[in-house]
Amino acid sequence: MIDLTALDRDGAAALLRFYRDIGVETLVAETPFDRFAQSEAERLSPREAPALDEVFAPPAPPAPPPAARQPAPRPPMERKPALNKASAPVAPAPSARPAAAMSHDAATASAREQAAGARTLDELRERLAAFDGCALKVSATQLVFADGAPDARIMIIGEGPGADEDRIGRPFVGRAGQLLDKMLAAIDLDRTKVYIANVAPWRPPGNRTPTPQELALCLPFVQRQIELVSPDFLVLLGASAAQTLLGEREGIMRLRGHWRDYLCENRTIRALPMLHPAYLLRAPLAKAQAWRDLRALKKAIDHAGVV
Ligand code: URA
Repeated sequence: MIDLTALDRDGAAALLRFYRDIGVETLVAETPFDRFAQSEAERLSPREAPALDEVFAPPAPPAPPPAARQPAPRPPMERKPALNKASAPVAPAPSARPAAAMSHDAATASAREQAAGARTLDELRERLAAFDGCALKVSATQLVFADGAPDARIMIIGEGPGADEDRIGRPFVGRAGQLLDKMLAAIDLDRTKVYIANVAPWRPPGNRTPTPQELALCLPFVQRQIELVSPDFLVLLGASAAQTLLGEREGIMRLRGHWRDYLCENRTIRALPMLHPAYLLRAPLAKAQAWRDLRALKKAIDHAGVV
């Protein structure tokens, strides 16, 4: 634990720069809470260590002993409506209790129950907006649910919102999104002919990759989103989307360009993993591979006659 009182002005500035560079952007509490020490305590002395439920629960009011052990208070959650669709609010199922007070397994079960109960995309969005089981929601500005045509035959799924998407509330509106629009235009598609979503619907802090635990919590919702859109083709942009939805561990460089079957209710959907446009911005030479994959997509779409 860093002793902040021992830092001079330069040291404090260097520490702040370090936090900024590793993506820390949200102040949760005045006193740090050492969760590594807590895990160690749980391992060594399970009976004295707090139960997992307590760790995820909001802090009990007075708990004075060592300052470093006080759980961080949770900031209030901001609920803003998604911008891309209007609908009457749908109440979550009565069994939906705040998952922030649940273990990971209970939160996953709640996510499955909530997602399965959604009969329409609007209802799914409402249920996702009310779902408190995924920590990504705490630091995000708003839910980024989808863009494009809900009746599209082609569904594109990315990783998670960046800063622009978090601000605006629609997926793929930043630089990567502009490149995605150009890629679509190159094969005669645009947002009126595709439906776009993400495997993580809240922006990960500092644009980090969502963790497997976060993705597992969001998975039932995106699976239900696919069922409700029921497209003929899925385009999975980047490793997070491809691995999460195909249950794969292989890297995107191996997965890309190879058609897979995605099992959805009682049918299969053809799924094509592709390189993520954000990666293409950093590695323009890889655009040759992306172009090959786009041509394969175009050929399949034309052959199926779905656009
Ligand atoms: N990258 C993604 O994966 N999704 C977005 O919505 C934006 C950038």
